Amino acid sequence: MQTNKSQKTVLLIGASRGLGHAMAVEFLKKGWNVVGTVRGGKPRTLLHDLADEYRGRVEIETLDICDQNQLAALHDCLYGKMFDMLFVNAGTTNRDPTETVGEVATDDFIHVMITNALSPMRVIESLECYVGETGLIGVMSSGQGSISNNETGMREVYRGSKAALNMFMRSFAARQAGTSRAMVAMAPGWINTALGGPEAPLTIEDSIPSLVNVLLLKQGKPGLEYLDYLGRTIPW
Ligand SMILES: NC(=O)c1ccc[n+]([C@@H]2O[C@H](COP(=O)([O-])OP(=O)(O)OC[C@H]3O[C@@H](n4cnc5c(N)ncnc54)[C@H](OP(=O)(O)O)[C@@H]3O)[C@@H](O)[C@H]2O)c1
Repeated sequence: MQTNKSQKTVLLIGASRGLGHAMAVEFLKKGWNVVGTVRGGKPRTLLHDLADEYRGRVEIETLDICDQNQLAALHDCLYGKMFDMLFVNAGTTNRDPTETVGEVATDDFIHVMITNALSPMRVIESLECYVGETGLIGVMSSGQGSISNNETGMREVYRGSKAALNMFMRSFAARQAGTSRAMVAMAPGWINTALGGPEAPLTIEDSIPSLVNVLLLKQGKPGLEYLDYLGRTIPW
């Protein structure tokens, strides 16, 4: 990757498609370099197209966030690098939003919880050493992770997984109380992607350029905030 000192780099976990890929596009447009991860087994993703378009400014690494061996390998492979931002976007859901927590199959519950709550935190715990003292560490949460705002139910398992992610981020931030790092649990809005579905009111274009601006503005502001794509604070 071609770098100069003024060029910043984001390590973006889960950048193959959807919101993660759109974030990569946005960071590149703003002059940042991107090290993005995709899952193995896919010869080409949208991130590969981006690497062709922005030659020398996109590096692609392989990571399934639920695979601890792959995470250890990525940790070793990044040795010697420093990032201005680490953002874990990768996430999933169970398919049926009407399914209650009592109805969901145990395997589905475990899969969503491990992917959305445990694995992003393992990634952060493993790779935070590559983020500088004034860098930013963020996760893609969801407005549905807000306990205070849940007055409608629905998407119960997904909500629970993002609420758990928020709680783990708060514990991580509490352990980092003395540092000047910025931390964010981000709510992108309900967006039309494979995960969000076609009935979502927002497009990627409605959310992601603004979401990236919110991250850029949060740089240098220590402590954890739960923010939406317009920079508004969400109640935990
Ligand atoms: N869309 C919405 O309305 C919405 C709202 C709130 C929050 N979010 C959150 O935003 C994030 C991205 O969602 P999206 O809408 O862009 O979904 P998406 O289009 O389904 O994309 C999901 C992304 O996560 C990656 N991923 C999933 N499981 C992974 C794993 N185990 N290891 C590594 N990567 C994995 C996928 O990689 P592959 O290509 O390999 O599958 C893909 O890049 C998620 O955390 C989601 O919960 C979305």
